Amino acid sequence: MCRWLAEQGAASVVGMDISERMLEMAAERTHEGVTYIHASAEKAAFEPGSFDLVVSSLMLHYVEDVLPLFQKIYTWLTDGGSYVFSMEHPVATSGQGLVEPLWDRNGAGEPVAWRLAHYKDEGRRVSTWFVDGVVKYHRSMETVINSLIDGGFRISRVLEPACV
Ligand SMILES: C[S@@+](CC[C@H](N)C(=O)[O-])C[C@H]1O[C@@H](n2cnc3c(N)ncnc32)[C@H](O)[C@@H]1O
Repeated sequence: MCRWLAEQGAASVVGMDISERMLEMAAERTHEGVTYIHASAEKAAFEPGSFDLVVSSLMLHYVEDVLPLFQKIYTWLTDGGSYVFSMEHPVATSGQGLVEPLWDRNGAGEPVAWRLAHYKDEGRRVSTWFVDGVVKYHRSMETVINSLIDGGFRISRVLEPACV
């Protein structure tokens, strides 16, 4: 994403990740136009109005409390700036580590219903994603949307890509 933004002509691009290894791999593939910094989004600090665009790709579900982060991101943006993010859908995170199996299947083994019994139980989820013990935070769609609004944002578009 950072490389692509630089190629599109962004005046400057800053890439941030909490993982040094991810940054190393990104830097190995990047020749110019991007500055990478090692920080957690929650602890990062930038001057107000530093960016026209903030993008976070599949990171928010690792953040325990999104409202303070949204409030910070809002200040980092210029007037009329945009925050574009993706996150693991709450339907997906709700049962992780709590419900096994996550699908109800019919006699032929076909998935017929996804179990959502814990949808309203917001909080920590521990699951396996390549390795055991991956910690994510589940929150309902209303919490995400209301946190954006409380953080100062106006929502212009919500997309729900599906692979089922
Ligand atoms: C699922 S990966 C997505 C990687 C990449 N953004 C993409 O879309 O392909 C999640 C990334 O978020 C980073 N991450 C997780 N928690 C973070 C945090 N609190 N602050 C900054 N980065 C974080 C991880 O190190 C990892 O690189």
